[in-house]
Amino acid sequence: MTAKTVPVETFDLVIFGGTGDLALRKLLPGLFRRYADGQIPEDSRVVGVARDTLSDAEYRARVSEALAAVIGNEPVLQAKLAPFLARLGYHALDATKDEGWQGFADELLAHGDRIRVFYLSTSPGLFVDICNRLRAHGLNGGKSRVVIEKPIGKDSASAAVINDAVGSAFSESQIFRIDHYLGKETVQNLMALRFANILFEPLWNSNYVDHVQITVAETVGLEKRAGYYDTSGALRDMVQNHLLQLLCMVSMESPAAMRADAVRDEKLKVLRSLRPITAEDAAALTVRGQYRAGASNGGAVPGYVDELAALEAGRTDSRTETFVALKAEVDNWRWAGVPFYLRTGKRLAERVSEIVIAFKPVPHSIFEQTAGPVMANKLVLRLQPDEGVKLWLMIKDPGPGGLRLQHVPLDMSFAEAFGVHQPEAYERLLMDVVRGNPTLFMRRDEVEAAWKWIDPILAAWETMRDSPRPYTAGSWGPGAAVALIERDGRTWHEDAA
Ligand code: BG6
Repeated sequence: MTAKTVPVETFDLVIFGGTGDLALRKLLPGLFRRYADGQIPEDSRVVGVARDTLSDAEYRARVSEALAAVIGNEPVLQAKLAPFLARLGYHALDATKDEGWQGFADELLAHGDRIRVFYLSTSPGLFVDICNRLRAHGLNGGKSRVVIEKPIGKDSASAAVINDAVGSAFSESQIFRIDHYLGKETVQNLMALRFANILFEPLWNSNYVDHVQITVAETVGLEKRAGYYDTSGALRDMVQNHLLQLLCMVSMESPAAMRADAVRDEKLKVLRSLRPITAEDAAALTVRGQYRAGASNGGAVPGYVDELAALEAGRTDSRTETFVALKAEVDNWRWAGVPFYLRTGKRLAERVSEIVIAFKPVPHSIFEQTAGPVMANKLVLRLQPDEGVKLWLMIKDPGPGGLRLQHVPLDMSFAEAFGVHQPEAYERLLMDVVRGNPTLFMRRDEVEAAWKWIDPILAAWETMRDSPRPYTAGSWGPGAAVALIERDGRTWHEDAA
């Protein structure tokens, strides 16, 4: 049982960076799944653009190879491969040179007044050139949309430069700033849980919530992205966007309607209410770490700097953080005094992303000591893997013995409850772009507000000049991250069931 998909209008989708990792690993598989599901009309087209000279046939062969893992042995999907590949084309273009652009534009415009999506899956250094050329060739008309991927800058000043440049070619309603975490099923489910049930909202405030935890743990390491990652680090790569967006979804007020600006206005208010972390607080409220050699995914793995050295000859050191934990506070009426503990890192013990709403304990226990402790309720939203929701409750230990209490989860696994494939975030988000629905995308002011909160942390770290704390690959990060939460008499959630 899944929601019925409604076909979108016919479109042309151009992927700049069409031979890149994101295109081949996420975008094209996402489009293929939507196509196989009947959501993409037959006369739609996907055009890969990159600098390499490739024929359409060569591009299709590359895409076909990338889709092999998605298709596996499923005959229904196998049957859809050839017709999907027939929808694909390729264009060699250099964003920084005029050559070839006229032919590219003529070819697109010859297909009439259809929806055109330009997905900039390139380095942000090319956004300005690409947008200027799209405008110069008349490809920024009302039915065009542009999708930009992070990193949107490396601080608020550079984000403003990118936003200005993209904004000079496209209007805000045509710009889709993607944060793929917003397309994850559980994140959308958070909206459903909060706003389609009466149960939670009355408790969703500082009277009943003790604290919130947001963990995005990965087992992967640098993954050949040295050039980008080493100049970014976990705070910019994950916290500025994904974790802060999750924090917004948890803590925002109810929007008046599930409409783009209503939702984004509420998220913006949260971002603007985040208590600034000053240079004086940074040492107490933030922890940065970097992995050393250890074990991950069942095998020995090198440390971050050694991985870097293997990719970039001559590298012997780096102060880039691969782990961050921090304590944030939302200074408004609803959340006053409720800490939000955030942590994310690479080469951690497990791949798990979850949001934990830890409620306060009951005010008084009526039970004998022999019943055991009365533990506080927790609502755990698991984004990945095994998407689902667990509500931890106290119940009586079943059986005829004395009354003993147990903390157990009311457990809903989406895969078990609904069977079938859980759509990847990009599948939904790409279709939302075609539909022109920006609800799950970031507005310019949100991105800039998020950077304004991150900037002082970066500045404080720069002033401290300390090195990130080492942690062993395959662990849960530096001990200081445990101390960060334990100092407050709390612990990181561990799924015991
Ligand atoms: C990306 C980051 O935005 O998100 C990567 O740049 C990270 O460093 C990735 O690995 C995680 O996404 P997911 O969907 O695998 O959790």
